[in-house]
Amino acid sequence: MKIGYLSGTFDLFHIGHLNLIRRAKHCCDYLVVGVHRDASHKGKETFIPLEERMDIVRNIKYVDKVILSEREDSDIYFKGIVKYDYLFVGSDYKGTPRFNRYEELFKDTGVKIIYFPYTEGTSSTQLRKVIS
Ligand code: CTP
Repeated sequence: MKIGYLSGTFDLFHIGHLNLIRRAKHCCDYLVVGVHRDASHKGKETFIPLEERMDIVRNIKYVDKVILSEREDSDIYFKGIVKYDYLFVGSDYKGTPRFNRYEELFKDTGVKIIYFPYTEGTSSTQLRKVIS
């Protein structure tokens, strides 16, 4: 059974989130999604409380399990929280220092990092701007 993992803040859940989750589930048997406590790592504030964001993600039919994320996706694996086979993320993260580091860390583990096309035209940041 192939286990997949992805993480996100999922504030103001939008189609970019759904596209990522749907594509991820099509590539694995069991999909675990980590939800970030807040968006402070991006210097942003969330509109929707953590419990509500987790509840929304938990009830998406492609999601098998929801957990609180670690700051680093690699910690989820190396701390043994979820021994995943695939780490999924949007293509906006390709080539970033964080994912370059993960590429190195996972080199000899058998874990594959899979980048899906970023969904243009929407993001939590854009939605927050409109609401504000
Ligand atoms: N993502 C995506 N397409 C979008 C927005 C996000 O594929 N339009 C992906 C990201 O690449 C990431 C995941 O969704 O793998 C979770 O992203 P998250 O930070 O929760 O969403 P954003 O809308 O990017 O949030 P923000 O604008 O606050 O940075």
